[in-house]
Amino acid sequence: MQAQWIIERKRDGEVLTDDEIGAFVAAYVQGGVPDYQMSAFAMAVFFRGMTAAETAALTRAMRDSGTVLERHGSAPRIDKHSTGGVGDKVSLVLAPLAAACGLTVPMIAGRGLGLTGGTIDKLDAIPGFRTGLEPDEINAALDACGCAIASQGKSLAPADRRFYPLRDVTGTAVSVPLIVASILSKKLAENLDGLVLNVMCGRGALMQTTHEARDLARALLDTARTLGLRAVAVLGDMNRPLGAAVGNALEVEEAIAVLRGAGPAIVREAVLSLGVEMLRLSRLAPGAREARSRLELALDGGAALDRFRAMLRAQGGDERIVDDSARLPRARFVTPFKAAAAGVVRNVDADSVARACMELGAGRSRMDEAIDPAVGLSAIVPVGTLVELGEALAFVHANDETRRAAAELHLLKAFDVGELATPPGPFVLERLT
Ligand code: URA
Repeated sequence: MQAQWIIERKRDGEVLTDDEIGAFVAAYVQGGVPDYQMSAFAMAVFFRGMTAAETAALTRAMRDSGTVLERHGSAPRIDKHSTGGVGDKVSLVLAPLAAACGLTVPMIAGRGLGLTGGTIDKLDAIPGFRTGLEPDEINAALDACGCAIASQGKSLAPADRRFYPLRDVTGTAVSVPLIVASILSKKLAENLDGLVLNVMCGRGALMQTTHEARDLARALLDTARTLGLRAVAVLGDMNRPLGAAVGNALEVEEAIAVLRGAGPAIVREAVLSLGVEMLRLSRLAPGAREARSRLELALDGGAALDRFRAMLRAQGGDERIVDDSARLPRARFVTPFKAAAAGVVRNVDADSVARACMELGAGRSRMDEAIDPAVGLSAIVPVGTLVELGEALAFVHANDETRRAAAELHLLKAFDVGELATPPGPFVLERLT
């Protein structure tokens, strides 16, 4: 295999064979293709794209770069993947909730990069919680409580583990075939019966327009079908943050509130909508109404929260955080960000909120950067709220005064307070099968 010929063929817009793609990815994982050649390949794909067959071959090769989880038990194995957003803590609620409804949920999740947060970073805010599980530890957690949320580690889709940060620093992250192969290689390694794809869309998402999000959703669904995975896609609104909290420990706290049957209505709605799709895919509850009432019962009756506690136990986390949120990391300064005028909150811009949280240290701009689990925003007022002059629009949790001042500059752009507000639309924008 001559790596440079494959790069040249893609650069010139030719269609690569399954064998060429397979050999290229295998050589990358074994060290035969260095990062600079992989970067050139990624840029060629960025500009030339890939056919559906090439995308499927890349996805398969990336899955086969590592191991596939063994199946244990007979419960349907269904997962949900989100392309990421601001304040998206849905996985923390949905994995234990779906497990409480009879599914097995082996969720491989990622760290945040850029403006969108990552489920693994949120879980890392829980003292003791281990996300770096080996495949046999994931299976042990699944046996214990029906769900596990872990990082991909060294064994699952290692090609993606190396390729993802490389894409990020070479301007090739937003390429549909590369995103599809990255997401689905990890999900196929989970050995699933079905997958719900939550493609976020808007100012706080990778895909900013409905058109782009729909293209990505279709490509994900096509590749999943080609590789024998049943899937459904849900486009989610990511123009405003998902809930009232953004920041790792603060989002864990909000997820626990939702697991208690409380929390912001938009988060509950996102969880229930995606949960309905998971139960329908599993055929445990083929009808949407039946699925929704099973999920509501598990949320409001405490079964989902019990599973969350069991997941904490199985993965070494401090269970006491459920009843005592003071055990989560806490920032030194908590200050209100006040409205400069009275009126109705017409919009809360997800992008500016995310930038404020980045300034505080809640996110990372490079994969090796450390993050501060305690910082972020809480009690962000929902769109449509009537506020007085000087009333808090959010609370800023900071560990450093300079960073807090920098964050507040972004918050000035985040809130639009005025006279007339159109009611916010629903979380689910579209469903694609
Ligand atoms: N999530 C992934 O896992 N990979 C991408 O490329 C984008 C989102």
